[in-house]
Order: sequence, then structure tokens, then C-alpha cells
Amino acid sequence: MCGIIGYCGHRPAVPLVLEGLKRLEYRGYDSAGLAFLQVSKLEIIRSEGKLCRLEEKVAQTANTFAPISIGHTRWATHGLPVEKNAHPHASNSGAVAIVHNGIIENFQEIKDELLAKGYVFHSETDTEVLANCIADELDGLLQRHFGKSYAGAAQEFAENAQENSLQYLELMEKAFAKALQKAHGAYAVVLLSPLVPKHILAARLAAPLLMGIGIGEYFVASDVPAFLPYTRDVVFLDDREYVVISSGGYAVKNLYTAEPVQKEIHHIPWDLQGAAKDGFKHFMLKEIMEQPKVLRDCLAGRVQNGRICLPELDNMPVPESIRIIACGTSYNAGLWSQYYLEQFAQLPVTVEIASEFRYRKPILNSRELIVVISQSGETADTLGALRLCREKGYPVLGICNVLGSSVAREASACLYTQAGPEISVASTKAMLSQMVVLLLLALYFGQRRNTACPAEEVLAELRRLPDVLEGTLADMREKAKEFAYKYAFAKSFFYLGRGTAYALALEGALKLKELSYIHAEGYATGEMKHGPIALIDPEFPAFALAFDDENFGKVRSGILEVKSRQGKVIALLQEGTVLDCEDLWYIPKTAIPEFLALPAMQLFSYEMADYLGKDVDQPRNLAKSVTVE
Ligand code: AGP
Repeated sequence: MCGIIGYCGHRPAVPLVLEGLKRLEYRGYDSAGLAFLQVSKLEIIRSEGKLCRLEEKVAQTANTFAPISIGHTRWATHGLPVEKNAHPHASNSGAVAIVHNGIIENFQEIKDELLAKGYVFHSETDTEVLANCIADELDGLLQRHFGKSYAGAAQEFAENAQENSLQYLELMEKAFAKALQKAHGAYAVVLLSPLVPKHILAARLAAPLLMGIGIGEYFVASDVPAFLPYTRDVVFLDDREYVVISSGGYAVKNLYTAEPVQKEIHHIPWDLQGAAKDGFKHFMLKEIMEQPKVLRDCLAGRVQNGRICLPELDNMPVPESIRIIACGTSYNAGLWSQYYLEQFAQLPVTVEIASEFRYRKPILNSRELIVVISQSGETADTLGALRLCREKGYPVLGICNVLGSSVAREASACLYTQAGPEISVASTKAMLSQMVVLLLLALYFGQRRNTACPAEEVLAELRRLPDVLEGTLADMREKAKEFAYKYAFAKSFFYLGRGTAYALALEGALKLKELSYIHAEGYATGEMKHGPIALIDPEFPAFALAFDDENFGKVRSGILEVKSRQGKVIALLQEGTVLDCEDLWYIPKTAIPEFLALPAMQLFSYEMADYLGKDVDQPRNLAKSVTVE
């Protein structure tokens, strides 16, 4: 998954594009680049590594006030993260440069055709193939209209660019559209060309792309933070649409018919401050500490007079079963909710990993409700699962955090988690907000099915939790530091949980893995005696969730089994419970302890990663949203 941006306007475009890329760096950061036009000549600057390397190169080589530029931060899918594979990629002719997010699945077939025509390639990327495919289509049109290809008459075309601008733009749009119609897979692509020096073209298929509408300036980007300081008026492009922007305006068209498409302009409510660190050392810490507010925001407007209000679902029939599909942390949130959905809504619930579900030819039935959960709303496997179900005519409920994202727009209905932008790659507040929405969903269907669910008590607890969490976060952080320093050099960790704590154990293990790079396994406590306990020794500690519920006795036995084999245990338990264990971590007693246990485990992983000097907000090999398979 990559970050892309394009700008046409009245400001110096290169520094603005660099600034926008910084706010997109969470989307991928193993290489970066930008392109601009200098006296109608295409200039491209690229670098390996993080964005600061590109900034240094630009400072050394580009003194420009060019008002048009495109930029890219990369998370490698085709080809190593080295400079030659960094975007933008130019065509052999120099007629076009593009930046691209996604995967062109038939790139090899297109590449073979171009190789046979004599094209050469300098990178291993599918993007360079697409750039040459567009240029090839363009040359065919230029030959037909002017009797010459671009490469052979670049100077002449440049000299006539002003006089022939409309005709050149029309031909460029045709070439752009024709090439993209040949491309299969996923793309958000932005094009810059000396032939149309005042315009940027952009298009999308199964990858996010939106347009920012300023005053005398226009943006295209993968995500809102890229241009939020300049405008909050946003148009979300849909698949098989393209847009042409210039400093004078924009036009959205259908990629296949070139018919104009009317688009709604959304006004983004949250400001850049919401996407900035607010003084915290890392986005992750900020987002963990925001969770009391997230709890409140997620509840806002959804409970009236003791009743759950989810108008998005009122036209949906009450299902006879629910199937939840997601990836990563979102899957863990779904697994956690299974207990509450079955208990409160009295509906059978299955929870599936999206990448498994979509390829196993699942048997669906019309009386089940499919629920896909995705913070970003762009995760390829989750989106693929959604599309599979929609193609079969099944209703799909999306639970999503990003306004206007693909999941939000393609689901039959969408419940937004209202958690605000989550910039850190590790998902924290998003999961907490997903749990709130899923709990409300359980109560909502319980209400519609008239089950005897304790809605009043649960809602009272949900309303109380933000203050309880707010009051204990600082202590939690101190405890997290204490244990992180003590266990920082463990090579492996078990995370143990039972009942509603089991899914949290999986999440705790995922957080430790992805942040500190320490191997960690989440396990059902009751499973330890079926093999894993063979691994226990003083070097293989366990983080055990021991809530004061009907499982406490069995969990305590499981912990003692570990301790009796010289295993070390950090036991996270609720005030008032007693356990013979060296490292006890008490959290306030609440009826739904998971809403406190989750932030505690997030802080443990955060402090561990920070102590070990890891890249907390952008862990190696990871990206915020996995928009490729
Ligand atoms: C969680 O910390 C990871 N960043 C990852 O597992 C993530 O939850 C997963 O990729 C799903 O992302 P989504 O919620 O945006 O679909």
C-alpha cells in the first residue's frame, strides 16, 4: 500500500507535495519520489528509504517554483525497495510520468507486448509497465493526428502545447483511459506529462483515491491528511472513474465512456490537529490515550432513552445468523464480539479470516448477515470478501473508520466507528471502537428480537467506562513500563485468555509481535495442556488475562500449571481478585473488563517497543492498510 499525491495550483508544488507525502508516510515508507515540470521538461527525483532522504535530494537538486507536481511513498509489492523501483516511473519517451498504488495483475502480459515493440524497462515494477502502456497508446494517437510520435518531436510538441492544449489533452485522456482499460487488478494512478503541462490525470480501481478542492488549487491523493491544511472539501472517486485537474478546475469522467460524472463534495469534519501527534512521542501513544474520547464518540447518538439507535440497519431484515469477516486486529475484534452477539442477540455467529474465506468457495445463505470489519476500509482481502458476497446478492454490513472508503461505499450499510484518523500502523483505538460498535450491534439485534439481553446494565457500563479508563491510563502506563523493562529481553511470549479474554489474548500477541518484533503467541488458556505447555521455561513468559468471571478458577489453574514449570507469568486481573503470582497487574473492576485490558496490553507493547528502540509508528515490513493481497 503506498501514498500518492498530485497538485495543481498557485503555490510552489514541490514543497507542498513533500509535505503531503509526510502525512501519507504511514501508508508505506520504503522509498519515495516526486516529479514536476521545469520549463516543460519532466524532472523526477527519487530515493530509497524514508521520506527524509527524498527531502535531502530535493533540497540539493531542485530549486523550483513549479505549480504542478506528483509524489509517492512506497510499500514495495513488485521489486525491491530500491531507488530504481521507486515512483514516479516515466515512459521511455518521457511523455508521461506516473505514481501508482495497487497491483496491475496482468502487467507481465502488457510488458511482453511492449518489449516486442522495442520498449526497455529499468525497474521491476508493474508501474513502469503501465507508464509505457499509456505512452504507447498516446503515440498511436499522436501518429494518427500529427504523423509523429512524442519521442521524435518532444520539442515541437512542447512548443505547440499552448496552442494545441485542448487537442493534446483530449488525446492524453483517451490514451490514459485506453491503457487503464487494459490493466487488471488494482490501481490508484496519477499522471503528469509535458504534453499537457497544466493538467494532472488520475484514476482508480480498487484502491483509494480522492480529490481535494481548494481555491484555485486542486489535489488528488490516497487519503485526506495529504492536503487537509489546504482544504477540507473532498470528492471521493469511484472505481472506473478518472479526473482531470488543473489550477482552473476539475472534471470527473467515466473511464469507459468519457461521460462526465457528477460527484458529491464531502466536508471533512476533523482537522489536521486530529491527525497530528498533539505532543505525544508517537501517534500510537496518542491514539491509545485517546480511547476514553473514542468510547464517548463511538456511543454518541446511538443510544436514546435506553434504546440502541442504528438507523443504518433499520431497513435490514433481522438475520438468522451472522458471519463476521476481517483481517488482523479487526478479525480479533470480530472474534471478541462473537460471545456478546450470541449472548445478547441469541444469533449463531461465525468469524472468518477474510483471506481464507474468499478463496474457499464458502456456502452462504440468504438469511445470514455478512459483517466486514475494516479500520481503513481498503484492506484488499476484506474488500474482496465483501465483493464476493455482494456479487452473490447478499447484504453486507461494513464496520469502518474511514469516511468514504471502499468498504464504506460498497457495503449495503455502514456503521462508522468514529474513532478519528488512526495514523500509527498498529491498530489501537480502532479496535476499541470496533468493539463498542459490535457490542451495540449485539444489543440492537437483541432489542429487535426481543431477547432478554441486559441492555440497560451494559449501556450503563459503557457510559461509565470512559471515565474509568481516563482515570487509570496513567497508572496503566507506569505498570506497562515496569513490566516492559523487566521482560524486554524475552525471546517469546505466550498470551493466554479464556472466554471473552481469548480474542484479546490473540490481539495482545499481535501487538507485541508487530511492535517489538518479539515472537508472541495468543492461546486459549484451556489449550495450554494440549501441547504448548511443553514450551514453558523461565525464558518463555506468559501474559495471562484472568478476569473475575466464571472462568477465573480454570484460568488460575492454567496459570499455576505454567508457574509450576518455572514459567514466569504477568497476570492481568481485576481489583479484588487474589492470585499467587509474582507479577500482578490490577485493573479497575468493571462488568466488561476487556475495555480496560485492551489498552493495558497496547501500552505494554508500546513501552516494550519504545524501550527496545523500535520504530513504533512504522514497524518494519508493515503498512497501515494492506491494499494488496
Ligand atoms: C493491526 O495492528 C495491524 N495493523 C493489522 O493487523 C490490521 O488490523 C489489518 O491489516 C486490518 O486492517 P483494517 O482494519 O484496516 O482492515
